[in-house]
Amino acid sequence: MSAVDDTQQKRSATIAVIGSGTVGRSWAACFVRGGHHVRIYDVDADHAVTTIAWVRDALRTSGLSDTEVDSCAARVHVVPTLEAAVNDAIWVQENVPEDTLIKSQIFQALDKAANRQAILASSTSAIPASQFVSSIAGRNRCLVAHPINPPHLIPLVEVLATHWTDERVLARALKFLRDLGQEPVLIRREIQGFVSNRLQAALINEAMSLIGKGIISPADLDLCVSRGLGLRWAFLGPLETMDLNAADGFEGYARRFKNSYFELGKDLNVDRRWTKSATDQIAQWRRSILPAREIGKRQIWRDHLIVKLRRLIDSSTR
Ligand SMILES: NC(=O)c1ccc[n+]([C@@H]2O[C@H](COP(=O)([O-])OP(=O)(O)OC[C@H]3O[C@@H](n4cnc5c(N)ncnc54)[C@H](O)[C@@H]3O)[C@@H](O)[C@H]2O)c1
Repeated sequence: MSAVDDTQQKRSATIAVIGSGTVGRSWAACFVRGGHHVRIYDVDADHAVTTIAWVRDALRTSGLSDTEVDSCAARVHVVPTLEAAVNDAIWVQENVPEDTLIKSQIFQALDKAANRQAILASSTSAIPASQFVSSIAGRNRCLVAHPINPPHLIPLVEVLATHWTDERVLARALKFLRDLGQEPVLIRREIQGFVSNRLQAALINEAMSLIGKGIISPADLDLCVSRGLGLRWAFLGPLETMDLNAADGFEGYARRFKNSYFELGKDLNVDRRWTKSATDQIAQWRRSILPAREIGKRQIWRDHLIVKLRRLIDSSTR
């Protein structure tokens, strides 16, 4: 990376957010909290306007004072065209629907309109970027920066280059995300679903199968994670968990349990469709304890707990 690029990234820069749905608006909060100016473009003009109020609430939830919220919100602008959003931006975060054709069209337009130095990043959850940037001239500056929702509260970002991505672009991207306070992990090769969603799919598909077969109730299944595995996973990865689950560490754990994992692995049902019986049971259970109109309230409760938990974890010696 050149000295010019480095300086440009450190000072308050302009960031473009394309698509301001669930993930785009949370990225906007994250960028503006990091000191940047944010320009948001969404095809749905009404949607884009409600974003500012949403960003203000998100910043408040993440612990900013009213004065800080005001000063951050003053740097968020909703603009009427994609060109106006990317003009002068050093980073463009694409958050349009998970559809290869829509993403291909957007990346064509972004590549034409954006400053030549700008990095074009996609929030895609599962589609390798090669599938939507192959035919654009500036494919060497495109990559995936996949957040875990909501990125203004959860720091992990999966970064994936394509085989066209310039090494210096990748290095700048990782640095930009770290400077922002996010925690990027590099996925070394393009793979469908990346890593977090592959892990999530394995767990969720097996959960659906167990519920569908009547082996456990939806409420008890959730307890297995919320009052069991998840208490460790909130601050340890599954690999460190294994290391601490044996007096002789991971080597002893692997020796004792690798055969059980192999046998269990053969019995799992991670490649089946979710059955109607499983989805009906879960929907019935959820709506019996949380009416649909109260989902927003419960999301706020979740977000406050994430903030408290992160503070607790960050303040503990690691
Ligand atoms: N929701 C999640 O938990 C999550 C997490 C990580 C990544 N993602 C990824 O982020 C992307 C967006 O997902 P989302 O959940 O925010 O979707 P969403 O449906 O909430 O938002 C998509 C937004 O894009 C806008 N849009 C559609 N076409 C557009 C265009 N041509 N130009 C500009 N705006 C356009 C829509 O009006 C909408 O506001 C997807 O690729 C998704 O896989 C989602």
